[in-house]
Amino acid sequence: MNRFLALRLALCGSAALAGCVTTAAGGGDPEPHFSSLYANYLSGCAQCHAPGAVGATSTTEKSLDFSTQAAAYASLSGKANGLIGNQAGCDGVAFIVKDKPASSLLVATLDASTRNAFDLPGNPNCDNNAISDMTLPKLGKAPSAAFLTALKTWVQNGALND
Ligand code: HEC
Repeated sequence: MNRFLALRLALCGSAALAGCVTTAAGGGDPEPHFSSLYANYLSGCAQCHAPGAVGATSTTEKSLDFSTQAAAYASLSGKANGLIGNQAGCDGVAFIVKDKPASSLLVATLDASTRNAFDLPGNPNCDNNAISDMTLPKLGKAPSAAFLTALKTWVQNGALND
């Protein structure tokens, strides 16, 4: 057990229950497991990427579905679809390339340094101009550095449904 987890457990043991719930909101510290990444951040993507999502428009990418963890994992196993304008350069590009965060469109949409260096031999038009910033500024939720590290480690480790 790491020191921080031990501290949290100690606090939850002595503090009021409400305090513990607040600490756990957002899924706790992001870990390189899909369940943690979904709870910590990716669940928020459902405001636009889900059937009937309030934020969805005719230009929203068509295949992603973040409404549940299972749907998110399943749709992230596919490829971008329905992009228009200069974003269309990323149509057909895989959201996740196992073991390769630098080649994964999901990582590029959330991590600026990955986006700026994105370079797929088969998809030269899917570059930093075509890839949208898909962080959640409207929710006041930029991904934390810890989340981005966990996301890249998860892809590097094979992007399991864990
Ligand atoms: C406010 C609505 C909205 C939210 C919230 C949103 N998206 Fe998107 N997403 C879009 C739209 C619209 C597109 C199509 C490209 C564009 O117009 O920018 C898109 C495209 C994408 C693409 C395809 C690649 C690209 O950028 O062109 C990925 C991957 C993606 N979104 C992932 C996510 C993730 C992960 C989240 C949550 C962190 C998220 N999106 C949150 C609206 C949204």
